[in-house]
Amino acid sequence: MPKSLIVYGSTTGNTETAAEYVAESLKNKNFEVELKNVTDVSIAELGNGYDIVIFGCSTWGDDEIELQDDFIPLFDSLEDADLKGKKVSVFGCGDSSYTFFCGAVDAIEEKLEKIGAIVIGDSLKVDGDPERAAIIEWGREIAEKL
Ligand SMILES: Cc1cc2nc3c(=O)[nH]c(=O)nc-3n(C[C@H](O)[C@H](O)[C@H](O)COP(=O)(O)O)c2cc1C
Repeated sequence: MPKSLIVYGSTTGNTETAAEYVAESLKNKNFEVELKNVTDVSIAELGNGYDIVIFGCSTWGDDEIELQDDFIPLFDSLEDADLKGKKVSVFGCGDSSYTFFCGAVDAIEEKLEKIGAIVIGDSLKVDGDPERAAIIEWGREIAEKL
């Protein structure tokens, strides 16, 4: 059974809801899933032998990209994560009326690539309320790429 970790940062609950749909989707594909708020995750445990680590983070800010507050400490120490050569994916909620639509997703993806992680699939950018069917489908596609 493939082992996965989903780590999310969410202020108003949208990315949390999206993370729950991703978890549901992976479970449907017989993955073992750990679903954690980023506030409960240490940088060390990201390297705990998961077949995939999936990061979810919403975007805040106006003139520049700001990650969801809780996610910032983990983002800042990602260089210390044992993720080189490991599979990861990224999703997040945002609002396409902002200049940097889901900019946090791009920033996390870029940093993961920089540290040598292997980004699986296209990152998922959710515009507005998380739509269950679309997110379940994204999770299924990720699971099938492993
Ligand atoms: C002050 C403010 C700034 C925001 N900035 C952005 C932004 O730059 N880009 C974006 O895509 N969404 C932006 N959003 C939209 C949020 O990311 C969106 O509401 C998201 O669903 C929140 O997810 P969360 O509940 O998981 O934190 C902003 C929202 C607020 C209230």
